[in-house]
Amino acid sequence: MSLQVLFPTLVYEARLRSRGWRGLNGRLLRECRQLRADDAAGRRWSARNYPAGYTSYSSAHRMHQLSPTFAALARELDRHVARFTHALQMDLGKRRLTMTDCWVNIMGRGAAHGPHLHPLSTISGTYYVAAPAGTPGLKLEDPRLERFMGAPPRRAAARRAYRPWVTLRARPGQLALFESWLRHEVAANPRVAERISISFNYSWF
Ligand code: NI
Repeated sequence: MSLQVLFPTLVYEARLRSRGWRGLNGRLLRECRQLRADDAAGRRWSARNYPAGYTSYSSAHRMHQLSPTFAALARELDRHVARFTHALQMDLGKRRLTMTDCWVNIMGRGAAHGPHLHPLSTISGTYYVAAPAGTPGLKLEDPRLERFMGAPPRRAAARRAYRPWVTLRARPGQLALFESWLRHEVAANPRVAERISISFNYSWF
């Protein structure tokens, strides 16, 4: 007999390895907080749509084009995205995979991010700037879940790859990449300490 693993869902995690990543992370932390202080439109949007949190998703979503610090992060991310698409065996041809969006998320106590996809994008991901102990990770959902119908649940001790949900730990200096169709969410932050992340999309032109 043989067992084959077909149609894998790949998820990429890495740490920023470049020399001086702590310095870059420190500058990103200051700029994320400064952006919240400066971005009145984003704070208004967040009050309606992102309770207990701040996001620049609707107001400053091309930070890699506005800030040299975010541009430096984007250059690092480009390398990781290239490795990821290689692992995915994507044939990108002559079209370029380019960062289109890059925005800030600051989650205070009680802030949550419900399940969602990133439509119109190819690769999405998050870089963690601050993730104090006890703040939530990134919860990923098996993309076949709505097709399972009569399928029994997996054993509680099932291997990670067989579980319907997997949560990746958030750690400062770490990034996670996934294909943009993969549904994900962030549970409510139970801590007073702020969880600060930078999310981004790459699209194929
Ligand atoms: Ni997302």
